[in-house]
Amino acid sequence: MNFYIMTLFPDMVKDGLNTSIIGKAVEKKLLSINAVDIRDYTLDKHRHVDDYPYGGGAGMVMQAQPVYDCYKDIEKDLEKKPRVLFMTPTGKTFNQDMAKELSKEENLVFLCGHYEGIDKRVLDKIVTDEVSIGDFVLTGGELPAMMMIDAISRLIPGVLNNDISAETESFTDNLLEYPQYTRPEIWEGEAVPAVLLSGHHANIEKWRREKSLLLTKERRPDLFEKVELTKKDKKFLADYE
Ligand code: ADE
Repeated sequence: MNFYIMTLFPDMVKDGLNTSIIGKAVEKKLLSINAVDIRDYTLDKHRHVDDYPYGGGAGMVMQAQPVYDCYKDIEKDLEKKPRVLFMTPTGKTFNQDMAKELSKEENLVFLCGHYEGIDKRVLDKIVTDEVSIGDFVLTGGELPAMMMIDAISRLIPGVLNNDISAETESFTDNLLEYPQYTRPEIWEGEAVPAVLLSGHHANIEKWRREKSLLLTKERRPDLFEKVELTKKDKKFLADYE
């Protein structure tokens, strides 16, 4: 998978993504991270990439030309038109299903805005998806792009050491993940739940499923509504109440 990030802050993106698991995946050539500086495409002699908004109002708006030329320079080396994801709080909210879908693409382009936005005309020409990472406003699209790249990358085969862990964690089947414990058995007077020490795999699975159900029901009723409950789940929940 090749990620292209159109940004005014390429160092921020490179520094943030070249460490840890993502950095290792880049070394292994499972991914490439290409941060492209939009400012390199300005035709303005002062290297400005923004101007005042038509109609007035606070802040500055990024101009269409440098963004478009930057995109065209990325696109020219690709076989087909890539998906271009514009990071914006007004976009569709990113989630695990979207991460899974995007992880199947060969190339992904992220467009990171700054200031008060980007001229709508260039968005209409190049953007295929407008994506938000949640109901809050950040100063730019770099952190959202980095978050998405992290979430997408870990679903690419070989990026995590064990493919199983990408499948059995939170949001798979709309359930939040059960709690985990490790040594020592007793810490600050608190013992690990006995079932986890029993070696009885069926009971452990049952305990984990039940913890996931209760956690999701309490914290994320919106997700819980979408869980496909088995007969056993229903009985457990009915008995629990
Ligand atoms: N840019 C600023 N805030 C954002 C958000 N919440 N999601 C995506 N891009 C953004």
